[in-house]
Amino acid sequence: MGRIRRIAITTGGGDAPGLNAVIRSVVLSALQRNWEVIGIRKGYEGLFDTSKLIPLDRDSVRGITHIGGTILGTTNRGNPFEYPMRCADGAISLVDRSDELVETFRRMRIDALVAIGGDGSMRIAHGLAEKGLPVVGVPKTIDNDLSGTVITFGFDTAVTVATDALDRLHSTAEAHERVMVVEVMGRYAGWIALHSGVASTADVILIPEIPFDIDIVCDKVLDREARGRHFTIAVVAEGAHPVGGEMVVSGKAVGQEVRLGGIAEQVAAAIEERTGKESRVVRLGHLQRGGRPTTFDRLTALRFGAAAVRTIEAGIFNVMVALDPPRVKTVELAEAVSRMKNVPLDSDTMLTARDLGVCFGDGTDGEEAGT
Ligand code: F6P
Repeated sequence: MGRIRRIAITTGGGDAPGLNAVIRSVVLSALQRNWEVIGIRKGYEGLFDTSKLIPLDRDSVRGITHIGGTILGTTNRGNPFEYPMRCADGAISLVDRSDELVETFRRMRIDALVAIGGDGSMRIAHGLAEKGLPVVGVPKTIDNDLSGTVITFGFDTAVTVATDALDRLHSTAEAHERVMVVEVMGRYAGWIALHSGVASTADVILIPEIPFDIDIVCDKVLDREARGRHFTIAVVAEGAHPVGGEMVVSGKAVGQEVRLGGIAEQVAAAIEERTGKESRVVRLGHLQRGGRPTTFDRLTALRFGAAAVRTIEAGIFNVMVALDPPRVKTVELAEAVSRMKNVPLDSDTMLTARDLGVCFGDGTDGEEAGT
Protein backbone atom coordinates (compact mmCIF):
# COMPACT_ATOMS: atom_id res chain seq x y z
CA MET A 1 0.00 0.00 0.00
CA GLY A 2 1.15 3.57 -0.71
CA ARG A 3 2.04 6.37 1.64
CA ILE A 4 -0.38 6.95 4.52
CA ARG A 5 -2.05 10.37 4.47
CA ARG A 6 -5.23 9.96 6.45
CA ILE A 7 -6.38 7.46 9.05
CA ALA A 8 -9.67 7.08 10.89
CA ILE A 9 -10.41 5.99 14.42
CA THR A 10 -13.54 4.49 15.93
CA THR A 11 -14.62 3.39 19.40
CA GLY A 12 -17.27 0.65 19.40
CA GLY A 13 -19.26 -1.43 21.88
CA GLY A 14 -19.60 -0.60 25.58
CA ASP A 15 -17.28 2.14 26.77
CA ALA A 16 -14.29 1.33 28.98
CA PRO A 17 -11.94 3.59 30.94
CA GLY A 18 -8.89 4.31 28.78
CA LEU A 19 -10.66 4.94 25.44
CA ASN A 20 -9.71 8.61 25.45
CA ALA A 21 -6.10 7.74 26.23
CA VAL A 22 -5.97 5.52 23.12
CA ILE A 23 -7.54 8.27 20.99
CA ARG A 24 -4.99 10.83 22.22
CA SER A 25 -2.11 8.45 21.64
CA VAL A 26 -3.25 7.57 18.11
CA VAL A 27 -3.83 11.22 17.18
CA LEU A 28 -0.50 12.51 18.53
CA SER A 29 1.47 9.58 17.06
CA ALA A 30 -0.21 10.10 13.68
CA LEU A 31 0.35 13.87 13.71
CA GLN A 32 4.07 13.21 14.37
CA ARG A 33 4.05 11.45 11.00
CA ASN A 34 2.09 14.26 9.31
CA TRP A 35 -0.98 12.07 8.88
CA GLU A 36 -4.50 13.44 9.20
CA VAL A 37 -6.84 11.76 11.67
CA ILE A 38 -10.60 11.48 11.26
CA GLY A 39 -12.71 10.54 14.29
CA ILE A 40 -15.80 8.47 13.55
CA ARG A 41 -18.55 9.34 16.00
CA LYS A 42 -20.82 6.66 17.54
CA GLY A 43 -18.93 3.57 16.48
CA TYR A 44 -19.31 2.23 12.96
CA GLU A 45 -22.66 4.04 12.68
CA GLY A 46 -20.68 7.21 11.92
CA LEU A 47 -19.61 5.82 8.56
CA PHE A 48 -23.26 5.79 7.40
CA ASP A 49 -23.56 9.51 8.08
CA THR A 50 -20.55 11.59 7.04
CA SER A 51 -21.59 14.44 9.36
CA LYS A 52 -20.37 12.12 12.09
CA LEU A 53 -16.80 12.19 10.73
CA ILE A 54 -14.75 14.84 12.51
CA PRO A 55 -11.13 15.89 12.04
CA LEU A 56 -9.04 15.31 15.16
CA ASP A 57 -6.11 17.62 15.84
CA ARG A 58 -3.86 18.32 18.79
CA ASP A 59 -6.49 20.53 20.41
CA SER A 60 -9.23 17.90 20.13
CA VAL A 61 -7.27 15.48 22.30
CA ARG A 62 -5.88 17.91 24.84
CA GLY A 63 -6.39 16.92 28.50
CA ILE A 64 -8.37 13.73 27.90
CA THR A 65 -5.97 10.96 28.98
CA HIS A 66 -7.44 10.68 32.47
CA ILE A 67 -11.09 11.11 31.50
CA GLY A 68 -13.52 8.17 31.26
CA GLY A 69 -15.95 7.56 28.39
CA THR A 70 -14.95 8.48 24.83
CA ILE A 71 -14.91 11.85 23.08
CA LEU A 72 -16.13 10.01 19.96
CA GLY A 73 -19.15 8.39 21.61
CA THR A 74 -19.89 4.71 21.15
CA THR A 75 -22.72 2.28 20.66
CA ASN A 76 -23.28 -1.43 20.82
CA ARG A 77 -25.87 -1.19 18.05
CA GLY A 78 -25.15 -0.66 14.36
CA ASN A 79 -23.12 -3.75 13.43
CA PRO A 80 -22.71 -3.03 9.65
CA PHE A 81 -23.02 -6.74 8.87
CA GLU A 82 -26.31 -7.01 10.78
CA TYR A 83 -27.71 -3.52 10.72
CA PRO A 84 -31.23 -3.20 12.19
CA MET A 85 -33.56 -1.56 9.61
CA ARG A 86 -37.29 -0.96 9.91
CA CYS A 87 -39.27 -2.64 7.10
CA ALA A 88 -42.45 -1.28 5.50
CA ASP A 89 -44.59 -3.40 7.85
CA GLY A 90 -42.85 -1.87 10.89
CA ALA A 91 -40.87 -5.00 11.72
CA ILE A 92 -37.11 -4.73 12.17
CA SER A 93 -34.81 -6.87 10.04
CA LEU A 94 -31.03 -7.19 10.05
CA VAL A 95 -29.37 -6.02 6.81
CA ASP A 96 -25.73 -6.35 5.64
CA ARG A 97 -24.58 -2.75 4.96
CA SER A 98 -20.85 -3.46 5.10
CA ASP A 99 -20.24 -2.70 1.38
CA GLU A 100 -21.77 0.74 1.86
CA LEU A 101 -19.39 1.34 4.72
CA VAL A 102 -16.34 0.20 2.73
CA GLU A 103 -17.41 2.55 -0.08
CA THR A 104 -17.66 5.54 2.32
CA PHE A 105 -14.21 4.69 3.55
CA ARG A 106 -12.78 4.79 0.01
CA ARG A 107 -14.70 7.93 -0.94
CA MET A 108 -13.30 9.71 2.09
CA ARG A 109 -9.78 8.60 1.07
CA ILE A 110 -9.10 7.04 4.44
CA ASP A 111 -5.96 4.89 4.20
CA ALA A 112 -6.36 2.89 7.41
CA LEU A 113 -8.73 2.39 10.32
CA VAL A 114 -7.89 2.04 14.01
CA ALA A 115 -10.82 0.10 15.48
CA ILE A 116 -10.96 0.19 19.27
CA GLY A 117 -13.36 -2.30 20.78
CA GLY A 118 -14.21 -5.61 22.39
CA ASP A 119 -15.00 -8.96 20.80
CA GLY A 120 -17.99 -7.65 18.81
CA SER A 121 -16.03 -4.71 17.41
CA MET A 122 -13.02 -6.91 16.61
CA ARG A 123 -15.31 -9.34 14.74
CA ILE A 124 -16.64 -6.42 12.68
CA ALA A 125 -13.07 -5.14 12.15
CA HIS A 126 -12.04 -8.58 10.94
CA GLY A 127 -15.00 -8.73 8.54
CA LEU A 128 -14.09 -5.30 7.13
CA ALA A 129 -10.43 -6.29 6.81
CA GLU A 130 -11.54 -9.36 4.85
CA LYS A 131 -13.33 -6.93 2.50
CA GLY A 132 -10.07 -5.11 1.91
CA LEU A 133 -10.12 -2.34 4.51
CA PRO A 134 -6.71 -1.85 6.13
CA VAL A 135 -7.64 -2.26 9.80
CA VAL A 136 -5.67 -2.40 13.06
CA GLY A 137 -7.65 -3.35 16.17
CA VAL A 138 -7.09 -2.17 19.75
CA PRO A 139 -8.48 -4.47 22.48
CA LYS A 140 -10.84 -2.79 24.91
CA THR A 141 -13.25 -4.29 27.42
CA ILE A 142 -13.71 -4.31 31.15
CA ASP A 143 -14.56 -8.02 30.76
CA ASN A 144 -10.96 -9.00 29.76
CA ASP A 145 -12.44 -11.77 27.62
CA LEU A 146 -10.58 -11.09 24.34
CA SER A 147 -8.14 -13.75 23.17
CA GLY A 148 -4.65 -12.97 21.96
CA THR A 149 -3.90 -10.35 24.61
CA VAL A 150 -2.96 -10.92 28.24
CA ILE A 151 -5.13 -7.98 29.22
CA THR A 152 -7.55 -5.51 27.70
CA PHE A 153 -7.54 -1.92 28.89
CA GLY A 154 -10.51 -1.03 31.10
CA PHE A 155 -10.30 -4.27 33.08
CA ASP A 156 -7.95 -2.93 35.74
CA THR A 157 -10.21 0.05 36.43
CA ALA A 158 -13.31 -2.15 36.68
CA VAL A 159 -11.54 -4.48 39.11
CA THR A 160 -10.34 -1.49 41.15
CA VAL A 161 -13.88 -0.09 41.38
CA ALA A 162 -15.29 -3.50 42.35
CA THR A 163 -12.58 -4.11 44.94
CA ASP A 164 -13.18 -0.71 46.50
CA ALA A 165 -16.93 -1.39 46.67
CA LEU A 166 -16.33 -4.81 48.24
CA ASP A 167 -13.99 -3.30 50.83
CA ARG A 168 -16.72 -0.82 51.78
CA LEU A 169 -19.41 -3.50 51.92
CA HIS A 170 -17.31 -5.57 54.32
CA SER A 171 -17.78 -3.20 57.24
CA THR A 172 -21.52 -2.75 56.79
CA ALA A 173 -22.00 -6.52 56.30
CA GLU A 174 -20.11 -7.18 59.51
CA ALA A 175 -21.94 -4.46 61.45
CA HIS A 176 -25.36 -5.89 60.53
CA GLU A 177 -24.28 -9.55 60.43
CA ARG A 178 -25.65 -9.89 56.91
CA VAL A 179 -24.78 -11.74 53.76
CA MET A 180 -23.88 -9.29 50.97
CA VAL A 181 -24.25 -10.65 47.47
CA VAL A 182 -22.47 -8.34 45.05
CA GLU A 183 -23.06 -8.73 41.32
CA VAL A 184 -20.29 -7.61 38.99
CA MET A 185 -20.13 -7.41 35.20
CA GLY A 186 -18.01 -9.58 32.90
CA ARG A 187 -20.53 -11.21 30.54
CA TYR A 188 -19.61 -14.86 30.00
CA ALA A 189 -16.25 -14.63 31.79
CA GLY A 190 -15.46 -14.41 35.49
CA TRP A 191 -12.36 -12.20 35.40
CA ILE A 192 -13.79 -9.20 37.26
CA ALA A 193 -15.44 -11.39 39.92
CA LEU A 194 -12.32 -13.48 40.47
CA HIS A 195 -9.81 -10.64 40.65
CA SER A 196 -11.92 -8.28 42.78
CA GLY A 197 -13.15 -11.15 44.94
CA VAL A 198 -9.68 -12.45 45.74
CA ALA A 199 -8.25 -8.96 46.29
CA SER A 200 -11.07 -8.02 48.69
CA THR A 201 -10.98 -11.38 50.55
CA ALA A 202 -14.52 -12.37 49.56
CA ASP A 203 -15.77 -15.64 51.04
CA VAL A 204 -17.70 -16.81 47.99
CA ILE A 205 -16.94 -16.13 44.30
CA LEU A 206 -19.31 -17.42 41.64
CA ILE A 207 -18.10 -17.30 38.03
CA PRO A 208 -19.56 -18.56 34.73
CA GLU A 209 -16.65 -20.98 34.30
CA ILE A 210 -17.76 -22.95 37.41
CA PRO A 211 -21.50 -23.73 37.63
CA PHE A 212 -22.40 -23.54 41.32
CA ASP A 213 -24.40 -25.65 43.76
CA ILE A 214 -26.37 -23.28 46.03
CA ASP A 215 -26.29 -25.82 48.88
CA ILE A 216 -22.50 -25.62 48.92
CA VAL A 217 -22.69 -21.83 49.02
CA CYS A 218 -25.14 -22.02 51.94
CA ASP A 219 -22.87 -24.50 53.74
CA LYS A 220 -20.10 -21.91 53.50
CA VAL A 221 -22.34 -19.25 55.08
CA LEU A 222 -23.37 -21.62 57.89
CA ASP A 223 -19.80 -22.79 58.42
CA ARG A 224 -18.70 -19.18 58.90
CA GLU A 225 -21.62 -18.65 61.26
CA ALA A 226 -20.52 -21.63 63.34
CA ARG A 227 -17.01 -20.16 63.52
CA GLY A 228 -18.33 -16.86 64.84
CA ARG A 229 -18.09 -15.02 61.53
CA HIS A 230 -21.66 -13.74 61.31
CA PHE A 231 -21.36 -12.11 57.89
CA THR A 232 -20.43 -13.30 54.42
CA ILE A 233 -19.33 -11.49 51.28
CA ALA A 234 -20.26 -13.22 48.01
CA VAL A 235 -19.14 -11.84 44.64
CA VAL A 236 -21.28 -13.08 41.78
CA ALA A 237 -20.38 -12.58 38.12
CA GLU A 238 -23.42 -11.58 36.06
CA GLY A 239 -22.89 -14.70 33.92
CA ALA A 240 -22.69 -17.14 36.87
CA HIS A 241 -25.29 -19.89 36.86
CA PRO A 242 -26.21 -22.95 38.91
CA VAL A 243 -25.28 -26.47 37.84
CA GLY A 244 -27.78 -27.44 35.14
CA GLY A 245 -29.24 -23.90 35.12
CA GLU A 246 -29.15 -20.95 32.75
CA MET A 247 -27.58 -17.51 32.97
CA VAL A 248 -30.09 -14.84 34.02
CA VAL A 249 -31.02 -12.56 31.13
CA SER A 250 -32.52 -9.18 31.93
CA GLY A 251 -33.26 -8.02 28.40
CA LYS A 252 -32.50 -8.06 24.67
CA ALA A 253 -32.99 -5.52 21.87
CA VAL A 254 -32.88 -6.33 18.14
CA GLY A 255 -29.30 -6.32 16.82
CA GLN A 256 -27.83 -6.36 20.31
CA GLU A 257 -26.49 -9.09 22.56
CA VAL A 258 -28.58 -10.29 25.47
CA ARG A 259 -28.29 -8.20 28.62
CA LEU A 260 -27.23 -10.26 31.62
CA GLY A 261 -28.18 -9.45 35.20
CA GLY A 262 -30.22 -10.66 38.13
CA ILE A 263 -28.38 -13.77 39.30
CA ALA A 264 -27.40 -12.02 42.57
CA GLU A 265 -31.07 -11.61 43.55
CA GLN A 266 -31.63 -15.33 43.03
CA VAL A 267 -28.53 -16.28 45.02
CA ALA A 268 -29.41 -13.91 47.88
CA ALA A 269 -33.02 -15.15 48.05
CA ALA A 270 -31.87 -18.78 48.16
CA ILE A 271 -29.28 -18.05 50.87
CA GLU A 272 -31.81 -16.19 53.01
CA GLU A 273 -34.39 -18.94 52.63
CA ARG A 274 -32.01 -21.82 53.36
CA THR A 275 -29.82 -20.31 56.08
CA GLY A 276 -32.12 -17.77 57.69
CA LYS A 277 -29.38 -15.14 57.30
CA GLU A 278 -30.53 -11.72 56.13
CA SER A 279 -29.08 -11.31 52.64
CA ARG A 280 -28.78 -8.12 50.61
CA VAL A 281 -27.89 -7.49 46.99
CA VAL A 282 -25.66 -4.83 45.46
CA ARG A 283 -25.40 -4.67 41.68
CA LEU A 284 -22.38 -2.57 40.70
CA GLY A 285 -23.46 -2.28 37.06
CA HIS A 286 -22.09 0.56 34.96
CA LEU A 287 -20.18 2.09 37.89
CA GLN A 288 -17.49 -0.39 36.84
CA ARG A 289 -17.20 1.30 33.43
CA GLY A 290 -17.33 4.94 34.45
CA GLY A 291 -14.77 7.45 35.62
CA ARG A 292 -11.02 7.79 35.48
CA PRO A 293 -8.89 4.96 34.20
CA THR A 294 -6.28 3.60 36.61
CA THR A 295 -2.62 4.32 35.89
CA PHE A 296 -2.25 0.81 34.51
CA ASP A 297 -5.16 1.24 32.09
CA ARG A 298 -3.98 4.68 30.99
CA LEU A 299 -0.51 3.44 30.28
CA THR A 300 -1.75 0.33 28.48
CA ALA A 301 -4.15 2.44 26.43
CA LEU A 302 -1.42 4.94 25.49
CA ARG A 303 0.92 2.08 24.56
CA PHE A 304 -1.80 0.40 22.46
CA GLY A 305 -2.56 3.64 20.58
CA ALA A 306 1.07 4.34 19.70
CA ALA A 307 1.61 0.69 18.75
CA ALA A 308 -1.43 0.79 16.44
CA VAL A 309 0.09 3.74 14.57
CA ARG A 310 3.49 2.03 14.31
CA THR A 311 1.68 -1.04 12.97
CA ILE A 312 -0.05 1.04 10.27
CA GLU A 313 3.27 2.65 9.39
CA ALA A 314 4.79 -0.82 8.98
CA GLY A 315 1.95 -1.70 6.57
CA ILE A 316 0.62 -4.53 8.76
CA PHE A 317 -3.18 -4.91 8.75
CA ASN A 318 -5.97 -7.26 9.78
CA VAL A 319 -4.26 -7.49 13.17
CA MET A 320 -4.92 -6.37 16.73
CA VAL A 321 -2.30 -4.89 19.04
CA ALA A 322 -1.95 -7.01 22.17
CA LEU A 323 -0.18 -7.00 25.51
CA ASP A 324 2.35 -9.78 25.96
CA PRO A 325 4.37 -8.36 28.87
CA PRO A 326 6.71 -6.66 28.72
CA ARG A 327 6.01 -5.95 25.07
CA VAL A 328 3.08 -4.91 22.94
CA LYS A 329 2.83 -7.14 19.89
CA THR A 330 0.29 -7.79 17.15
CA VAL A 331 -1.92 -10.85 16.69
CA GLU A 332 -4.10 -11.75 13.73
CA LEU A 333 -7.66 -10.45 14.16
CA ALA A 334 -8.82 -13.93 13.17
CA GLU A 335 -7.04 -15.34 16.21
CA ALA A 336 -8.37 -12.64 18.54
CA VAL A 337 -11.98 -13.42 17.62
CA SER A 338 -11.58 -17.18 17.33
CA ARG A 339 -12.60 -17.87 20.92
CA MET A 340 -13.50 -16.16 24.15
CA LYS A 341 -10.81 -15.88 26.81
CA ASN A 342 -12.29 -17.46 29.92
CA VAL A 343 -10.67 -17.79 33.33
CA PRO A 344 -8.36 -20.84 33.19
CA LEU A 345 -9.29 -22.98 36.17
CA ASP A 346 -5.64 -23.90 36.74
CA SER A 347 -4.43 -20.28 36.66
CA ASP A 348 -2.37 -18.96 39.53
CA THR A 349 -5.13 -16.62 40.72
CA MET A 350 -7.59 -19.53 40.83
CA LEU A 351 -5.10 -21.69 42.72
CA THR A 352 -4.49 -18.81 45.14
CA ALA A 353 -8.22 -18.43 45.73
CA ARG A 354 -8.55 -22.17 46.39
CA ASP A 355 -5.60 -22.06 48.80
CA LEU A 356 -7.24 -19.15 50.63
CA GLY A 357 -10.38 -21.25 51.04
CA VAL A 358 -12.67 -19.23 48.76
CA CYS A 359 -15.92 -21.07 47.99
CA PHE A 360 -16.72 -21.35 44.27
CA GLY A 361 -19.86 -23.37 44.97
CA ASP A 362 -18.32 -26.51 43.51
CA GLY A 363 -17.41 -28.44 46.62
CA THR A 364 -13.64 -28.20 46.52
CA ASP A 365 -13.23 -25.35 49.02
CA GLY A 366 -10.56 -25.14 51.63
CA GLU A 367 -11.02 -24.39 55.34
CA GLU A 368 -10.37 -20.69 55.70
CA ALA A 369 -11.72 -17.78 53.73
CA GLY A 370 -12.44 -14.11 54.03
CA THR A 371 -11.87 -12.06 57.11
O1 F6P B 1 -18.87 -5.80 27.74
C1 F6P B 1 -18.86 -4.85 28.73
C2 F6P B 1 -20.13 -4.89 29.53
O2 F6P B 1 -20.08 -3.90 30.54
C3 F6P B 1 -20.47 -6.26 30.12
O3 F6P B 1 -19.74 -6.55 31.28
C4 F6P B 1 -21.96 -6.10 30.34
O4 F6P B 1 -22.60 -7.36 30.31
C5 F6P B 1 -22.39 -5.27 29.18
O5 F6P B 1 -21.25 -4.59 28.71
C6 F6P B 1 -23.46 -4.28 29.51
O6 F6P B 1 -23.82 -3.63 28.34
P1 F6P B 1 -24.79 -2.35 28.29
O7 F6P B 1 -23.94 -1.14 28.52
O8 F6P B 1 -25.36 -2.39 26.94
O9 F6P B 1 -25.79 -2.52 29.39
